Amino acid sequence: MAIHGIQARARRQIASGPRFTTVKMTSRGGIQITLTTTFSDNAEAGARALPGYVDEVIEGLSTAEKTLPCKLFYDERGSGLFDQICELDEYYVTRTENALMGAHAGEMAEAIGPGCLLIEYGAGSSTKIRSLLDHLRDPAAFVPVDISGEHLVRAADELKASYPDVEINPLVADFTGSFDVPAPLIEPARSVVYFPGSTIGNFAPGDASKLLKTIAERVGLGGGLLIGVDLDKDPDVLHAAYNDRKGVTAAFNLNLLVRLNREAGADFNLSCFTHRAAYNPESSRIEMRLYSDRRQTAQIAGHRFDFDMGESILTEYSHKYTIESFGRIAAEAGFQTRQVWTDADGLFSVQYLELD
Ligand SMILES: C[S@@+](CC[C@H](N)C(=O)[O-])C[C@H]1O[C@@H](n2cnc3c(N)ncnc32)[C@H](O)[C@@H]1O
Repeated sequence: MAIHGIQARARRQIASGPRFTTVKMTSRGGIQITLTTTFSDNAEAGARALPGYVDEVIEGLSTAEKTLPCKLFYDERGSGLFDQICELDEYYVTRTENALMGAHAGEMAEAIGPGCLLIEYGAGSSTKIRSLLDHLRDPAAFVPVDISGEHLVRAADELKASYPDVEINPLVADFTGSFDVPAPLIEPARSVVYFPGSTIGNFAPGDASKLLKTIAERVGLGGGLLIGVDLDKDPDVLHAAYNDRKGVTAAFNLNLLVRLNREAGADFNLSCFTHRAAYNPESSRIEMRLYSDRRQTAQIAGHRFDFDMGESILTEYSHKYTIESFGRIAAEAGFQTRQVWTDADGLFSVQYLELD
């Protein structure tokens, strides 16, 4: 399919927009009358306070190369779109990591040991943790952490139904900030962070190392980190994975602007931005951007941003590592690599690290 066809499909996917459903109960007989009205996104946002992330957005759009924080991808719709990406043929990441978890979760559980407090960073739909929970011996508790609240709570409810004997305490938080993990009822033998999905790849190496340091502080001496790390590979494979034929990644990327229009009263013209992801071999990373199809202006919270034709907004990095290059970043944070599991094609790795 031509790129324009893909983008058009992506736009149709996101144009379904918010609808407000008013449910009225009559005083007699409890009959429900449902009125459905579609409001303009901007009118709705104008009536509300601006979300807390707006300063960060304005700062990012004010730099020489315009950027937006990738954590903003994950509103309710963005999390759903990410789940669709995980199902794509081209997106080897989830398929390969799932297979590694399925094949080696017993060894991972053995490395972690009994009685741990397990904290998952960026838990999303909490699917990969199931392999581990099937093998862990007497975990003290499981704390899935995610910024996408509704999605997290729904996934945690499903997990609680599957693992009624495990204490599960979902926590809506930004893992780049400070947050307290609820103490489990049982005293844990150690703390271990599980960080799948190669979400660490979204951080430039210096920031990744800083984030790993905060994880090191959280788990303390004797604590561990089980982390999914995507490996460097054929750029064609990477290009296909981040520019899928169905346009789901394009919809995911554009949803960021949809969210800003809806929640922050911005006025990005959605039909004038195009998704594209390219591999940067010097930095070993995929760079995902939204390109302005014309000269245009967008405003958000009283700030005006001019776009030249072809100018882009950088929305996400996805760094690719070798076992050695990731080991160096982990070592800067004080972690030692204990065990590494990879697939036969060397696409992806799951690594167990400990603090000495
Ligand atoms: C690439 S997805 C991975 C999801 C899932 N762990 C997996 O492996 O398929 C990244 C996840 O991290 C969450 N996330 C991204 N940035 C975050 C942040 N700063 N704080 C908390 N959660 C974040 C997103 O909401 C999303 O669920």
